[in-house]
Amino acid sequence: MSDPAAPSPDLFSWEFATDPYPAYAWLREHAPVRWTRLPSGVEAWLVTRYADARATLADPRLSKNPVHHAEPAHARGKTGIPGERGADLMTHLLNIDPPDHTRLRRLVSKAFTPRRVAEFAPRVQELADRLIDRFAATGSADLIHEFAFPLPIYAICDLLGVPAEDQDDFRDWAGMMIRHGGGPRGGVARAVKKIRAYLADLIHRKRLDLGDDLISGLIRASDHAEQLTENEVAAMCFVLLFAGFETTVNLIGNGTYALLTHPAERARLQDALRAGDDSLLVTGIEELLRYDGPVELATWRYATEPLTIGGRRVAVGDPVLVVLAAADRDPERFAAPDTLDLARRDNQHLGYGHGIHYCLGAPLARLEGRTALTSLLTRLPDLRLAADPAELRWRGGLIMRGLRTLPVRFAPLR
Ligand code: HEM
Repeated sequence: MSDPAAPSPDLFSWEFATDPYPAYAWLREHAPVRWTRLPSGVEAWLVTRYADARATLADPRLSKNPVHHAEPAHARGKTGIPGERGADLMTHLLNIDPPDHTRLRRLVSKAFTPRRVAEFAPRVQELADRLIDRFAATGSADLIHEFAFPLPIYAICDLLGVPAEDQDDFRDWAGMMIRHGGGPRGGVARAVKKIRAYLADLIHRKRLDLGDDLISGLIRASDHAEQLTENEVAAMCFVLLFAGFETTVNLIGNGTYALLTHPAERARLQDALRAGDDSLLVTGIEELLRYDGPVELATWRYATEPLTIGGRRVAVGDPVLVVLAAADRDPERFAAPDTLDLARRDNQHLGYGHGIHYCLGAPLARLEGRTALTSLLTRLPDLRLAADPAELRWRGGLIMRGLRTLPVRFAPLR
C-alpha cells in the first residue's frame, strides 16, 4: 500500500520537527494520501490536502473509537495518554462517536458556554498580568516556562473550580505530561493517575457543595433528563485539561515566535493595538493558527467501512490521520500559504478541526491567545528573541508542535 515510486521525505526526524512544512508540501504534491509508518511502528494514512482533510474530518464512516483499529494491540494510548488502557478517563469526547458523543457534547456545551468564557476575560487578563509582573523587572525571560505554560493551566483550573491552593499541583502534573510527551512513558502515566485521583475527590466534594464553576455546571447538567455519571464528569474535566492545555501553550508560544520573526507583521499589529484597534488581533490569531498551529495532526480516526480518500482505497480498520498543518498551507485553498498575513480574509483554517469534533474550547483558546499577545506586546513593546532561531528546539510529538523554550529580552519594567 506504500508509495514505492516516491522518494520519502524524512518524516518525524529532528529536522522535521524544526520545520515540517517542506515535507508537507512534498506530500501534498506527490502523495497526498499516504500509508506511512509512524515512529511508534503503527501504520496510518496521512491526509495532507485541504479538501481531503476537511472532508475526512467530517466523514461519519470514520470512527474516533480505538476499538475500530484493525490492530487493537496498537489502539492503546492513541490520544497521547499512555498508561490509560481503556480506563474510565478515556471515555471522553475525542474517543467516542454518536450517539454517545452527541449526548456528552450537548451536556458539556450547556455548562461550557461562550458566555461563561466571556465572563472569564478579566480573570485571564489578571493571570497574564501577574505572570508578566513576575519577570518584568529582569529584562529577560523564557516565555514558554514563565508565561505560555502557566497561563492556560491556571486558567483552566480556575474555570473548572480547582481551588487556588491545589493549582500548583496541577501545574506540576501538567508539566510531567508535557515534558514526557514524546519520551519516557512512566511520567505521563503517573501524572494521569494523580489527576484522576484528584478529580474523583474534587467532583465528590463539589457534589456536596455546588458552586458556579464548570465542574458544578457539569454536575448540574447531569441532574436533568440525561445523566452524566461521576466517571463521565471526570473524563470531561480531563479532556478539557489535556485538550486545552498544551494546545494553548503552543498557540501562545508559536504565535509569539511567529510575530518576533516577522517584524513587519508584528509592527503592524503593535501599531493597531496602540491605536486601540484590535480587529487585526482577531484576524491575526486565526492566521497564527493557520500559519503554525499548535495541533499538527488531528487525533486518530478509524475506517468503519471501506472508503476512498483522494483516490486511495482505505480498508476497514485502517487508521487515518488528518495533517491539519499541511492542509492549512495548501496553495489550492490559501493564496500565498507560506506567507504570514495577519489581516488574511476568508481564512477557514482547520486548526480547530472540523465537523462534530470541532474544538469545544475554541472561544477560550481565542480569549487566552488574544489576552496573552496583547499583554506581551503592549507591556513589553520592545520584546525580542534572545536566541538564534536555528538554535531553538521544537517539541515534535505526533499530534502537537511547539517550542521547548522561547528566550526573549526587553527593556526591564520598573
Ligand atoms: C477538539 C484544537 C484549545 C477543548 C479539538 C480539535 C482540534 C483542537 C484540532 C479536533 C481534534 C479532532 O477532530 O481530532 C485546539 C487548538 C487549541 C485548542 C488549536 C488552542 C489554540 C482548547 C481548549 C479547550 C479545548 C482551551 C478546553 C478548555 C477541546 C475539546 C475537544 C477539542 C473538549 C473535543 C471536542 C469533541 O470531540 O467534540 N481542539 N484546541 N481545546 N478541543 Fe481544542
